[in-house]
Amino acid sequence: MADVSEVRSFDAYAPSNIALSKYWGKRDARRNLPTNSSISISLADWGSHTTVGPAPSGRDVVSHNGDILASDDSFARRALQFADLFRAGRSSDLPLSITTRNTIPTAAGLASSASGFAALTRALCGAFGLDLDETDMSRIARLGSGSAARSLWHGFVRWNKGDRADGLDSYGERLDLDWPAFRIAIVALDKGPKPQSSRDGMNHTTQTSPLFPPWPAQAEQDCKAIEAAIAAQAFDDLGPLVEANALGMHATMMAARPPLCYLTGETWTVLHRLWQARADGVAAYATMDAGPNVKLIFLEDSTDDVLTLFPQASVIAPFGQEFGPGS
Ligand code: PMV
Repeated sequence: MADVSEVRSFDAYAPSNIALSKYWGKRDARRNLPTNSSISISLADWGSHTTVGPAPSGRDVVSHNGDILASDDSFARRALQFADLFRAGRSSDLPLSITTRNTIPTAAGLASSASGFAALTRALCGAFGLDLDETDMSRIARLGSGSAARSLWHGFVRWNKGDRADGLDSYGERLDLDWPAFRIAIVALDKGPKPQSSRDGMNHTTQTSPLFPPWPAQAEQDCKAIEAAIAAQAFDDLGPLVEANALGMHATMMAARPPLCYLTGETWTVLHRLWQARADGVAAYATMDAGPNVKLIFLEDSTDDVLTLFPQASVIAPFGQEFGPGS
């Protein structure tokens, strides 16, 4: 029987991320292997702090933002299932305490699965004494939530789709490109639960949308062009590509049968206000994920314009401070 003392307490942090070039569609659902590569920007100190250690009570305990979760809670179940990857076959011998706290304001309405599974991966590796590098941890985090593969680093990260059936070449990689003036604003519109999880929405779109088949090739092309625009710090190229890529992803969902639309009337109101402001010279662009909230990208000198347009927005400077690789 395994000894519980094999597990030590370990704290970890991972930032959340927003995809500039989206992941939407899997070539292998069990391994979370994507149909195309994607690129994200990490959200600095908006993320998840997770501690994994032995459970003194002798039973698994999962707590989230200070509350102990019921054993049938979906987050608790997903976290423990993920932990089972580390304690394969030994779960009853190695009861775990998993404590996680999000620094993402609840009002921001951002999903926390990316930072949650990346922080959980780091914490489990530390707790089980596994000396893995970020690439290996990204491969593991991917199994919890695809976008978690991009949350092991700060800054811009590309998740390589890979071609191998076993997924060993599908992991995140930090782009060695800092852009201190780059800004993100979160325009929070709805704090309610998602109508459909991104996992279910992605499967439904892949299986039923006649607009899905051309998407992976377009998304791969967008990903390359977005990386080139970031490398050149060419914001006037980057912004339109990011917005078109997001709207293309939402178009695949809207064409699904029955249709899937995460965007609400409020989302469209924000978009129309943004497009009017752009016609008047404000250089900000939008991206949306599996929910109604709008994320804007812009450069530092447009901050006042963006906050005048959307006073409720929260502005994040992703390169605003020095971050260590694991901080
Ligand atoms: O990681 P998941 O399974 O929650 O999927 C994320 C999907 C999007 O957020 C819509 C796009 C992306 O690339 O993050």
